[in-house]
Amino acid sequence: MTTEISPRERLAAQLAEAVAGALSADLEQQPRALLVVSGGSTPVTFFARLAAMALPWERIDVTLADERWVGEDNADSNARLVREQLLVGPAAAAKFHPLTSDEGTPEQGAAAVAERIATLPWPASAVILGMGGDGHTASLFPDSGELGLALTTDEAVVAVRALSVPQPRITLSAAYLHRARRHILHIVGDNKRSVLARALAGDDARELPIRAFLACPLAVYWAP
Ligand code: 6PG
Repeated sequence: MTTEISPRERLAAQLAEAVAGALSADLEQQPRALLVVSGGSTPVTFFARLAAMALPWERIDVTLADERWVGEDNADSNARLVREQLLVGPAAAAKFHPLTSDEGTPEQGAAAVAERIATLPWPASAVILGMGGDGHTASLFPDSGELGLALTTDEAVVAVRALSVPQPRITLSAAYLHRARRHILHIVGDNKRSVLARALAGDDARELPIRAFLACPLAVYWAP
């Protein structure tokens, strides 16, 4: 009996193969490789597929493109999502660098997080971005007062507040998200394809922040 897999599952498997290939290729040239992943719901199947890959995970650093400023035990935590969905099986041997600190606010924690993130083996092998229906990516939100700073600073991370999300966030800056050999946009649903089409057709990054990455050689992994 053949088991039919959905287009989104097939996409996740293809993306996991591509990312595993990128990490393996880079690890032939350097002692460690860095993978930057995004949170949200889209990456869950991809994480499961990648986690099972036979890679030298002990030589791989994993960090996040952004984080919701909540405790790691919170269901909204991206660090919790990565620990539970990606850093399992063979991938449990990877070294994880969450964007969290014991400081009370992301503004207070940003400097300590930036210091840690800056020590990672940049450029990343791959930065995997998601996108919201408003064209945000990572935590670069069109309705955030810190968007301009996040798009222009050389600092590694920026504390972000936006009307469209309930919690404060911390995000890698565009400068750091650009420091990758490969940029991958992993999105699902027709609505996101149309947002991407709008971004490709015009609008500046302050309207649709994903535009800040369309100049990079961007592999788009999309399924209906
Ligand atoms: C996050 C992500 C964010 C996400 C988009 C898409 O912390 O939520 O980094 O940028 O990629 O919001 O989220 P979905 O995959 O849930 O649609």
